[in-house]
Amino acid sequence: MFPLVRIERLLASRADMFRASEVRELLKLTEGKKIISFAGGLPDPKVFPKKELAEIASYVIREHGDKSLQYCPTKGVTEFRNVLREFLRRSGVSLSSNDDVMVTTGSQQALDLISRVLIERGDEVIVELPTYLAALNAFRLSRPSITGVPMDENGMITDVLEEEIKRLKWLGRQIKFIYTVPVAHNPTGITMSLERKKHLLEIASKYDVLIIEDNPYSYFIYDEDVDVTPIKTLDKEGRVIYMGTFSKILAPGLRIGWVVGDRLLIDYLERAKQVADLHTPTLTQYIAMEAIKRGVVDIAIDRARRIYKVKRDLMLKALSTYMVKGTKWVRPAGGLFILLWLPSYDVDTKKLLPEAIKEGVAYVPGASFFANGMGWNTIRLNFSFPKPEEIEEGIKILSNVIRRKLNTRAGI
Ligand SMILES: Cc1ncc(COP(=O)(O)O)c(C=O)c1O
Repeated sequence: MFPLVRIERLLASRADMFRASEVRELLKLTEGKKIISFAGGLPDPKVFPKKELAEIASYVIREHGDKSLQYCPTKGVTEFRNVLREFLRRSGVSLSSNDDVMVTTGSQQALDLISRVLIERGDEVIVELPTYLAALNAFRLSRPSITGVPMDENGMITDVLEEEIKRLKWLGRQIKFIYTVPVAHNPTGITMSLERKKHLLEIASKYDVLIIEDNPYSYFIYDEDVDVTPIKTLDKEGRVIYMGTFSKILAPGLRIGWVVGDRLLIDYLERAKQVADLHTPTLTQYIAMEAIKRGVVDIAIDRARRIYKVKRDLMLKALSTYMVKGTKWVRPAGGLFILLWLPSYDVDTKKLLPEAIKEGVAYVPGASFFANGMGWNTIRLNFSFPKPEEIEEGIKILSNVIRRKLNTRAGI
């Protein structure tokens, strides 16, 4: 019998930052069970262009195997970056050279690299309230202080942002950047108005801070007249770091994202990436490149947009039919999510989750998206992954679970 090694004794103090969340552990229990899941941010596998990608994968190995199976530059396959540059130009982001873009292993890696390269312990980082949970986690690893700015149906409230920046400056804080998901925000589904984007940029310029613009969802807009101009398009000072991903427009399993920004910063991110993983897999870059060239990405986006619009409408309809009175949400013009605000602060949606799972429905409790520790009465719902026929059923179950809890609290 060997003595058991006590690994905990040997862990670095930062290892504690990687602790699995209770919610994730709970949601793991639902895998493979007959549960309607509104929890993950997963695309509908139906939108993956499987036949086309199988053909492309075989082609890039057969015809370009010498290169596609080889190491590649840290910034990404040069030809892919040319294609990506043109792809970005179509959505309004123009680069002066393909050296201004780096391919990352999912956009999650861009968040991690930005955290490593920009944040010093104790620096100030500003985010929306709520914001994308995995961005918060990436930033937290560098131990900044994080300030949240509330949102309304037009996005981050920029007047409040300016007041917060003034306060932080008065306190002598070093503000590094403002992180925003301006279009079809995760977790609220809110899209920032053009006026707010301009104001945000004006404020960033006035107080000399960077903007990190995370934009995975602008391809999925379901309503007319929604402005999706990237803030990067309005940026005249090189102040915006813009990132995106193929995860929702093609397939998350490819792990391909990109980050665009000031050349000097991209060079530093490149050095950090070299340490992290040398480069993003060459093979999946070749696959994504060929998928763009053959128009497969455009077709996949179109199909996803059509399917997700139907699902969004089903969820909105079910919510207005069944959800407990007084619950609030913003109708999302795009993206994959709706955030519910329950009518009572007495209900902690994290504590409610096991009951919901027992009844056959899963969601993500909203609190982890709030940098200020609030939001315990919120629920993030995803509508892209569940089957259309599950949406009404799932919302009905969830509404009953919530209603029961509220009634018990009220002693009814
Ligand atoms: C706002 C936002 N940023 C980044 C990501 C990360 O995407 P990936 O790492 O798959 O590119 C996601 C995924 O859900 C997201 O919602």
